[in-house]
Amino acid sequence: MSQQPPTTDRPLTTALAEAAAMAGHAPSVHNTQPWRWRVLPDALELRTAPDRALAATDPEGRLLVLSCGAALHHARVALAAEGWTATVERRADPADDGLLARLTGLRHEGVDPTAMRTVQCMQVRHTDRRPVSEEPVPGDALAEIVRAASAEGARLQVLSRDQVLELAATAAHAGTVEAEDSQLRAELEYWTSRSGTGTGLPPEVLPEQAPQTTVPARDFGRPGTLPVGPGHDRAARYGLLYGDEDEPVDWLRAGEALSAAWLTATRYGVSVVPLSGAVEVPGTRQTLRQLLAGLGYPYLVLRLGLADPAHAGPPPTPRLAVAQTVDTSAVRDHLR
Ligand SMILES: Cc1cc2nc3c(=O)[nH]c(=O)nc-3n(C[C@H](O)[C@H](O)[C@H](O)COP(=O)(O)O)c2cc1C
Repeated sequence: MSQQPPTTDRPLTTALAEAAAMAGHAPSVHNTQPWRWRVLPDALELRTAPDRALAATDPEGRLLVLSCGAALHHARVALAAEGWTATVERRADPADDGLLARLTGLRHEGVDPTAMRTVQCMQVRHTDRRPVSEEPVPGDALAEIVRAASAEGARLQVLSRDQVLELAATAAHAGTVEAEDSQLRAELEYWTSRSGTGTGLPPEVLPEQAPQTTVPARDFGRPGTLPVGPGHDRAARYGLLYGDEDEPVDWLRAGEALSAAWLTATRYGVSVVPLSGAVEVPGTRQTLRQLLAGLGYPYLVLRLGLADPAHAGPPPTPRLAVAQTVDTSAVRDHLR
């Protein structure tokens, strides 16, 4: 007797709309949330939101596409948690730059318990820019985080002590270059003064003074109100997310790998802070490439560590209303 796939009485369009909404939890550069979802009767499309691009900081759109990749992974996991599998066509139409991915061929196969747990991680994952505690990151957690990135088609190289020193000099240089650029400063100023809009970085998530870190963190150009304490993040590990090519489809996959690695880290209680300054400046991006000794192209630097358990971390960073990122106009009559 042939086995029937498990069924669901919830319409596909509702699952697609909910997955797109859940993807709103994804991390994004400067909290720009540069994605736009379109729910269709039997498919879900991910597009860029050019009005939330960083024209000065990210002219090629590398970090924009990475952020959208993180949202894509979130949506895929949310669908899997509801029992749906999909075929993902990345950059489905070469003539349409804005179309990043299309999820098609949706089938209800039965809920995936791992995905259900990962959805819980999406709801608590956040960026904590305080120094990490003195506790080292457990080796098994680090191995799982690296494995999660690889499973999504990018790689995460955990850096040696010497490489971290090189990274620190490179990040410091990128910080100097960026601080001298008035267009970059203006863009940062814009995204750090967006209170009430659901985008950008409010003062509550930015450190009230520069935290003591081995690798300089981004200087947001203004102090926030997040208390950082006297700690130094000596126990932090640093990683470089990288891959074989440097094309938009690779950035998209890198974003999916970032999401998978960060959600795995969350499961193990490991805090992740992306550091993109050294990738934004072309000269330092080249230095990072040398740091990889020809292994590939760098996409993002990550700081990994255990958050200080003794003090409360930052509040959640705000998000746009779902209606601003998810277009359900093509299926309005089917939703319930
Ligand atoms: C591609 C990318 C680059 C980022 N670069 C930085 C960075 O350089 N410094 C930093 O403190 N946070 C960085 N972040 C973290 C975002 O600011 C953060 O994800 C966003 O504000 C949403 O907050 P949340 O992660 O707490 O949900 C980056 C995130 C992404 C996805």
